[in-house]
Amino acid sequence: MNIAVIGAGYVGLVTGACFAELGNHVTCIDVNTQKIANLKQGILPIYEPGLDAMVITNMQQGRLHFATSLTELDAQASVIFIAVGTPSDKDGSADIKYVLEAARNIGAYITQDCVIVDKSTVPVGMADQVENIIKQELAKRSLNVSFNVVSNPEFLREGAAIEDFMRPDRVIIGLSSDNAKALMLDLYLPILRSPERIYFMNVKDAEMTKYAANAMLATRISFMNEMSVLCERMGVDIENVRIGIGSDSRIGPAALNAGCGYGGSCFPKDVRALVKMAEKHGVTPVMLNAVEQRNASQKLLLSERMTHLFGEDLTGIVVGVWGLSFKPGTDDMRESPAIVLIEEVIKRGARVQAYDPAAMPVARETLPDQWFRSGQLALAEHQYGALQDVDALALITEWKPFCYPDIAAMKNLMRKPIILDGRNQYDPRQIRDAGFEYYGIGR
Ligand SMILES: NC(=O)c1ccc[n+]([C@@H]2O[C@H](COP(=O)([O-])OP(=O)(O)OC[C@H]3O[C@@H](n4cnc5c(N)ncnc54)[C@H](O)[C@@H]3O)[C@@H](O)[C@H]2O)c1
Repeated sequence: MNIAVIGAGYVGLVTGACFAELGNHVTCIDVNTQKIANLKQGILPIYEPGLDAMVITNMQQGRLHFATSLTELDAQASVIFIAVGTPSDKDGSADIKYVLEAARNIGAYITQDCVIVDKSTVPVGMADQVENIIKQELAKRSLNVSFNVVSNPEFLREGAAIEDFMRPDRVIIGLSSDNAKALMLDLYLPILRSPERIYFMNVKDAEMTKYAANAMLATRISFMNEMSVLCERMGVDIENVRIGIGSDSRIGPAALNAGCGYGGSCFPKDVRALVKMAEKHGVTPVMLNAVEQRNASQKLLLSERMTHLFGEDLTGIVVGVWGLSFKPGTDDMRESPAIVLIEEVIKRGARVQAYDPAAMPVARETLPDQWFRSGQLALAEHQYGALQDVDALALITEWKPFCYPDIAAMKNLMRKPIILDGRNQYDPRQIRDAGFEYYGIGR
C-alpha cells in the first residue's frame, strides 16, 4: 500500500517505520525541515528503543522516505495519516491548529480517491472539521475526489512504542464507510492477524475512546497517589496495598504505581482537554479536575520533602537528580516531574546535579539556559557523577541502571546519605540498613 504520514514525531515516525517494516511504501512528511534533513541521513529526532535500526533498514530497502511537503510525493498515497501534535492551548483545550493545517495541505494536494486517517488525539467532532476543510480545498481546485476521514487513535507508550504498535491490545477505528473499512482491515490485519481485536465504531466514539483511555489511566495513577499520601500518614505501605488490590481481577495491576506524579506529552494535556470538552458541554468534570489537582500536588512532594529536611532556604544544599525524562525508555521531558522538582529547589537556592541516560540533550535544549549559566543546574556525565557531594538524591525516573545501584559507592560520594525515592524503586529496609535515610512515596 502507498501511505503518507503527516508529522514525523513520536507517533508519526513509529507509524511510518512500522508500516514500512510490514512491506508498505511510506513517506513521512514534516514541516520541520531540519528534522527531515536529519532523518534522510538516518539521524532520528527522538530516542526510542529499536526505532533507529528500523528507520535506517527501511530507508535502505526503499520502503521509507522523508519529505517536507505532500507535493514532494512521487506516488499517490491511498492512505494519508495525520499524526501532528495537539498540544494544550492556553486555556487547556487541545490546540488543533496543526491538524487543521494538515487537513488544508491534504485538500490542496490529493488528486485521487483516498482515506484520511486521523491518528492525532483530537477533540470529539474533529473528523467533521477535517472533512469540511478538505472539501473546501478541493472545491477551490474544482476537483471531485472521493475521500473518507477515519479516526484511528494511537495507544503506543513511549519507550515501548514499536512493541505496542506491532503487538497492540486492540486497534480502534471510527468510520462510516464500507470502503474505508475494507482498506483499514487490509492495513491492520498483518499486525493483528485476526479481525477480532479491531474494534470498528462511529468516528466520534473512537475520538472519545482515546481521551477516555488516557483519563482512566491518569485517574488510576492519581487515585493511587492519593492513597499513598493517606498511607504515609497512617503507617501503611502503599506498595503492599498496590499488590493487594492489583491482584483483584476486577482491578488488575496496570497503572497502579504511586509516585511523584505523571507527566509526558499525553496524560496531562489530554485530561485538561477533556475537562474543557466537558465544560463546553455543560458537564462539571468533578473527577477529572481532582485527577489533575492530585497530580499537581504529587509533583511537589519531593521538593516539599527537601524543605522539611533542610528548611525553606536551600542555599548551599546540593540535590542530585536521577532521571529527567517523564518515564524510562524515552528522552521526552514534556511535563516531567523532574522539571517541577528542579525548578522548586532552585527557586529556594539549591544547586542541582542531574543525570539521565537519554534525556540530557533534551534537557540542555529545553530547560532555562539561565540555570546552566548560573551553575544552578549541572548535567553529570555519569549517574554517580550526579552524586558527588550532594545532600540528597531524588530518584525521578525508574531507568534500569538506577534500580540496582552500587550502594557503597553512593554512600561514599554523597555528603549526606539521604534518598528520596520518587518511584518506590528501592526496598526501604535494605537502604536504611545501608545507613541511608530513605523516603519513598506512601511507605
Ligand atoms: N507521544 C505519544 O506517546 C503519543 C501516544 C499516542 C497518541 N499521541 C498523539 O499523537 C499526536 C502526535 O504526538 P507526538 O508525540 O508524535 O507529537 P510530536 O510533537 O512528537 O510530533 C508532531 C510532529 O508534527 C509536525 N507537524 C506539525 N504540523 C505539521 C504539518 N502541518 N505538516 C507536517 N508536519 C507537521 C511537527 O513538526 C512535529 O514533528 C498527538 O495528538 C498526541 O496526543 C501521542
